[in-house]
Amino acid sequence: MNILEKAKKYHSLEKEEIVALLKSSDKSLFIGADEVREKYKGNEVHLRGLIEFSNICKRTCKYCGLRGENLKLERYRLSCNEIVDFAKKGASYGYKTVVLQSGEDNHFSCDDICKIVREIKNLNIAVTLSLGEKTYEEYQAYKLAGADRYLLRIETTDENLYKELHPKMSLENRKQCLDNLKKIGYETGSGCLVGLPGQTIESLADDILYFKDKDFDMIGVGPFIPNPNTPLANYEGGDFWLAIRVMAIIRLLLPDINIPATTAMETLNPNGRIIALQSGANVVMPNITEGDYRRKYEIYPGKICVGDTPKHCRQCISSKILSIGRTISNSYGFRSD
Ligand code: SAM
Ligand code: SF4
Ligand code: FES
Repeated sequence: MNILEKAKKYHSLEKEEIVALLKSSDKSLFIGADEVREKYKGNEVHLRGLIEFSNICKRTCKYCGLRGENLKLERYRLSCNEIVDFAKKGASYGYKTVVLQSGEDNHFSCDDICKIVREIKNLNIAVTLSLGEKTYEEYQAYKLAGADRYLLRIETTDENLYKELHPKMSLENRKQCLDNLKKIGYETGSGCLVGLPGQTIESLADDILYFKDKDFDMIGVGPFIPNPNTPLANYEGGDFWLAIRVMAIIRLLLPDINIPATTAMETLNPNGRIIALQSGANVVMPNITEGDYRRKYEIYPGKICVGDTPKHCRQCISSKILSIGRTISNSYGFRSD
């Protein structure tokens, strides 16, 4: 049995087999991942409305435009009322989940976040948080306030690379945060960047095996896109097709999880999200932040939809999804739905 057939049947691979799939250019990987997606997740695509509520960050991840040391970025933070207001509008457009994402901005207290979560939960929609590394107690408080899911990418499981790219942070703590989130009972999402300077195919295979081992509920894969206002400005970015390969293998190994077609994929390829949806993905996270904030949440250059409105994006992505014979889900889209 070849590697792809084995992965489709048993959803388990050895590291060398993952490396071989990553190094190959055989397109049957994408077809295989698409078949597994259809079998386990059906044809529905879940839309999650993304609110980028603060671009202020105390961390200095070397690849990210929001890093605290980037003095060229115009900073903003929404008020608690504005965040809830954007969520209300998101719900009115039909979103069943809103994702609240930000830099690690200490301005918002634990109580602030809990209050925001409680108000949004009154709208009868699911809430995903993506606020970075917090204490066990904070994660627990958000959960008690009603938060359903949490996204925290591991970025890379390569110890040396992690250390090099994340000053004053540790891979150990990142892993601990993810373990805490799972223990508290969140639907937990992680993921990695593809094409980081010095990252090897073997280390990407390790990332995939880590996701499999932890059995995360969601995995987002993003190609690294160099930002001119960061220390990695002059490095080459990640390859779109390699990111799609990583994502497709994750679908084969974790057949029933939620996998987004990411914004970074579409930034590198104008048809990137549709290609991803046809290679294992079943989720899209359109931006529902309004006004000029979208442009200011500049993680990397060339980000899509910066000049568009939530209404336009909803229509745009919906028609693309329908054009490939898929449907828009009306459910909350939990892993077990
Ligand atoms: N601060 C939170 C965190 O780090 O988990 C959430 C916001 S952060 C901007 C969201 C994601 O952006 C990160 O997990 C990282 O993978 C991605 N990202 C940052 N810089 C990037 C870049 N240059 N290219 C592609 N993705 C990037
Ligand atoms: Fe801050 Fe997240 Fe960017 Fe790191 S990746 S600098 S934590 S916003
Ligand atoms: Fe924003 Fe297409 S999804 S313009």
